[in-house]
Amino acid sequence: MTTQIETPPPRSVGPAPREAPGEARVRLACRRCGLPVALGPVYVCAACFGPLEVAYDLDSLRESIHADTIEARPPGVWRYRELLPVDPPSRGLAVGSTPLVNGTRLGAAIGIDRLWLKDDTRNPSLSFKDRPVAMAAAAVERFGMGTLACASTGNLAGATAAAAAALGIPAYVFIPADLEPAKIDHALAYGATVVPIEGTYDDVNRICLEVADETGWGFVNINLRPFYAEGSKTLAFEIAESLGWRTPDVIVAPIASGAMFTKLAKGFDELAAVGLIERRPIRLVGGQAAGCAPVATAWESGSDIVEPVRFPDTIVRSLAIGNPADGGYAVELARGSGGSIEAIPDEVTAATIRDVARLEGIFTETAGGVTVAAAAAARRRGVIGPDDEVVALLTGNGLKTPDARQFGVDPRPHRAGPGEPGLAPALPPRFGEVLAWLEQGS
Ligand SMILES: Cc1ncc(COP(=O)(O)O)c(C=O)c1O
Ligand SMILES: [Zn+2]
Repeated sequence: MTTQIETPPPRSVGPAPREAPGEARVRLACRRCGLPVALGPVYVCAACFGPLEVAYDLDSLRESIHADTIEARPPGVWRYRELLPVDPPSRGLAVGSTPLVNGTRLGAAIGIDRLWLKDDTRNPSLSFKDRPVAMAAAAVERFGMGTLACASTGNLAGATAAAAAALGIPAYVFIPADLEPAKIDHALAYGATVVPIEGTYDDVNRICLEVADETGWGFVNINLRPFYAEGSKTLAFEIAESLGWRTPDVIVAPIASGAMFTKLAKGFDELAAVGLIERRPIRLVGGQAAGCAPVATAWESGSDIVEPVRFPDTIVRSLAIGNPADGGYAVELARGSGGSIEAIPDEVTAATIRDVARLEGIFTETAGGVTVAAAAAARRRGVIGPDDEVVALLTGNGLKTPDARQFGVDPRPHRAGPGEPGLAPALPPRFGEVLAWLEQGS
């Protein structure tokens, strides 16, 4: 028997050889009125103020895009380059090609026998945000914007700072001043200028709209939003590829601005349009924190209007966007696909983080707790049936929110005994005493 050794992805990937005929196949188009716009750092339609998004000539791609060509390419998001808006940056991080893990133990606990976990905790800056930022960094270089910037709920800060470091350009990261310290430190480590704003994420975002206009910097989620948002689609591409170019019955994903949620659907749609997968219905289930759940509230009440939450109150800082840009589209998708949007209390999120770690060996940040709890809630509601194949997205690493898993847990110190999960008392450096402690349990 031969053992196959996989070559690890390179830390830094150079420009990929061009196989597609340039980027004439790509343009921007208004999501509301359809107006076509040339590729550039613009995000609002001049005719109707609708959001711009990237559109591809999918009919012509049908002839030229093949599964075996994609599979033969190096790992990472750029292997799907025909369905991405820009060529890779001259220097970038090794983003994507994360594993789809069989979550049988966790699945048994929440009544979903065929559960897969997309483990995006292991991207270069430890969250899925490396995907959208990879596209935005390539766009900054292409449009000669010189500086990479963002308004962040936390994970985008690290991703933006890391991508700028790899490209060798400055990064400005604007955050709510009371963000988790681990996330602030993470962005600082990459050499970014971190600007805390005393307010909510929505305050930060509002200010950044003006800073973007004034400076012309490439704000990944503002003036480069159409490019940025496309990066999240690579999650759909990888899920389909990992399943042998097919789709699951249900996808469960966290919602902050709703960009990822809506682009997952766009990703599957494009794969079907170019003939890489068969078009099958997929139910889309979203998760939000109960303390900031504008999209879940609109879904639950049957309304199309997403009422902003002025003062988010949750430990799930990464999803704490009170006024989500793509909230309305997310409601429409959940409703239209037969999915749901679940609001998860913080205690349940914390307990679910512990369950995912304990049962599957994956430590996720708060958004992952929300997502798995949303899968369990949708199962109880009947939106997910017992035989459904379900993929839940774990989008960030637990080391970014180290205290969150203890939320709602008795704060009194407890010393674990032998055989009991937890921190044992400090023991003297003598084998006899360690053995005596171990034998207490037997
Ligand atoms: C870990 C994590 N998951 C999911 C999301 C949701 O992203 P979106 O704004 O695309 O809805 C975020 C947003 O910050 C995040 O940090
Ligand atoms: Zn328009």
